[in-house]
Amino acid sequence: MIQAIKWEDGRLVLLDQRYLPERVEFVHCRDFREISGAIRDMVVRGAPAIGIAGGYAMAVAVRECRDLRAGGREERKGHRAGAGTAIHGYEECAAYLKEAAKHISAARPTAVNLMWAVDRVLGRALSVLHAAEKAGASEDAALSDAYAAAVEEARAIETEDLEMNRKIGSYGAALIRPGSRVLTHCNAGALATGGYGTALGVVRKAWEENRISMVYADETRPYLQGARLTAWELSQDGIDVTVIVDSAAGYLMSKGMVDCVIVGADRIAASGDVANKIGTYTLACLADIHNIPFYVAAPTSTFDLSIPDLSAIPVEERSPDEVRGFFGTPTVPKGVKALNPSFDLTPYRLISAIITEKGVIEPPIPENLPRIVKG
Ligand code: MRU
Repeated sequence: MIQAIKWEDGRLVLLDQRYLPERVEFVHCRDFREISGAIRDMVVRGAPAIGIAGGYAMAVAVRECRDLRAGGREERKGHRAGAGTAIHGYEECAAYLKEAAKHISAARPTAVNLMWAVDRVLGRALSVLHAAEKAGASEDAALSDAYAAAVEEARAIETEDLEMNRKIGSYGAALIRPGSRVLTHCNAGALATGGYGTALGVVRKAWEENRISMVYADETRPYLQGARLTAWELSQDGIDVTVIVDSAAGYLMSKGMVDCVIVGADRIAASGDVANKIGTYTLACLADIHNIPFYVAAPTSTFDLSIPDLSAIPVEERSPDEVRGFFGTPTVPKGVKALNPSFDLTPYRLISAIITEKGVIEPPIPENLPRIVKG
């Protein structure tokens, strides 16, 4: 199976998703700023995948903190530091790590998996440092231990994500009637996760069980995650996929060509309202009008129970240049404005069920959600 993220010899290796399907290229990231830049620039994308990358970025920040401290010590001994600003004492280490966490988390604002994973790895590293400080251990040894613990935590996030996706796949496939034609949007597959996928995990499992006769993939303007990535990974697995332009979805539904819609999510509020790729809300409205089940598949790491509903979900706006042109070719007259919200918000009322690794949340979603997500 395709692996979009690899941890190799202390470096994060990312499949560069900007060039798929034409070229399979990898980017090797050495420091945490390079990783957060790769998240911001869409080298790696998809909520769980940016969470995993963010977790590793946090681990790399712990290593950088250790190296900066060592650089400072060398400096005091009269050697050249070469590592930049020196760090002294536990307090400065913690401040450095918290600042790095802020920087990584700011790379993309909508997918809560990013902040969730960064906080989880930061928390693990800080708890190692606090314990070492209490025990009077040396900072150098403590930072090495904190780095090992942070890498372990980042790896755990990655492994757990794959396990969750397989469970989501099994729960979700049971909802798909044999012979179904399924419509999906954006890419919620192996490329967007630690492997297998959320919405595409359901598709994979349902395909294996002969429940699907066709997958329709919205091309997903402006970044074409559907046309480039979903079509690429499904066709590699021999799953029958047909790409449509986003605006064809309503026509297909009106002709009875779609039996259900299944999408991923970037953040789910306590009410069950969902943020996902721009165009998702339109699909949910269309599915509602045509009486077609509309499913959302997401791990519990995508839930943000601290916010009540969609009104509190931050929506990323990306550069208008992504809309003004089509992969380098201008399509909008010079000087004309363009707006590029990258996500939209779908109220829970339009969702037939949310499929998680802990089970399926059925309506009434706000009432059933806490039992499953916290259970
Ligand atoms: O801008 P992207 O490509 O990161 O957006 C991705 C999506 O909207 C996905 O549908 C979502 O993250 C779920 S991925 C399992």
